Amino acid sequence: MNGPRHFLDLWEIEAADLRAILDDAHARKARRTGWPKGRVDADAPGRDRVLAMVFQKNSTRTWFSFDAAIRQIGGASIIATDAQMQLGRGETIEDTARVLSRMVDAVMIRANSHLDIRALAAAASVPVINGLSDSSHPCQIMADLMTFEEHRGPLAGKTLAWVGDGNNVCSSFIHAAPKFGYRLAIAAPAAYAPDDQDVARALGRQGRIEVTQDPRAAVAGADLVIADTWISMGDQDKFPRLEALEPYQVNEALMALAAPRALFMHCLPAHRGEEMTAAVIDGPQSVVWDEAENRIHTQKSILAWCFGAL
Ligand code: CP
Ligand code: NVA
Repeated sequence: MNGPRHFLDLWEIEAADLRAILDDAHARKARRTGWPKGRVDADAPGRDRVLAMVFQKNSTRTWFSFDAAIRQIGGASIIATDAQMQLGRGETIEDTARVLSRMVDAVMIRANSHLDIRALAAAASVPVINGLSDSSHPCQIMADLMTFEEHRGPLAGKTLAWVGDGNNVCSSFIHAAPKFGYRLAIAAPAAYAPDDQDVARALGRQGRIEVTQDPRAAVAGADLVIADTWISMGDQDKFPRLEALEPYQVNEALMALAAPRALFMHCLPAHRGEEMTAAVIDGPQSVVWDEAENRIHTQKSILAWCFGAL
């Protein structure tokens, strides 16, 4: 492929590239055991590179982990919210892309609309990374898959159960399923089912995706149970969501139906007493803090891949 290496959606990135990114992330993490967080990796694949980060929505993990990541690979960042930029006063996303491309080496954007991320990438001459949109959250899933491998080894043949809203994070798990060979069982209410096109695409590529409205069926024997907020950023229908999603809470009774050593993940931020109980997220099966840390390690490798160093 000519042109910049964008990281927009997992379904369009070669499985070998995703595997190389995870392998690099595991190796990089192992090499810096005990290091202070500001020390630069010896090979510094981001040396002399500047990353722009643009946020149209709130963030803790994506903001801090990308900034830590670019520093740990030897580069620098420039960070702004759209409200601080002319983007927030109506400058087009394409003009923003053209200008930033002259000033930085890559752009990470968290956007309200996935179409805007696509438009930014189409007009940019540097790599663009999707730091979450209404449709997907690919960087999160790379960290989640790394976390699973750390704790349980290869993903192929394992069962991952998604319980709750069939949202942006769920879509990226669907996108990655054919790439990594795991079975994905999704339990969601009809009104908040996962994206049909995502499911159809994955099924057409030998992805093993099952969609049900029954959370007990989805988690049966699962190696990993995943929850996310019932109300994502930008969702307006709070009360219908709370009502429809109430039967989808991940609690100890539901976890007991999964495999005996099943892990629990959540991309965070979490709402104890809603999508999962405190006993689950703060309990022994939860790996949510490893998952959050691994955002740094995987994003260093995503950046290295975008820069052509992988
Ligand atoms: N999981 C995640 O992307 O968190 P933030 O919204 O805090 O970036
Ligand atoms: N689904 C959530 C994920 C937050 C990281 C949202 O889009 O708000």
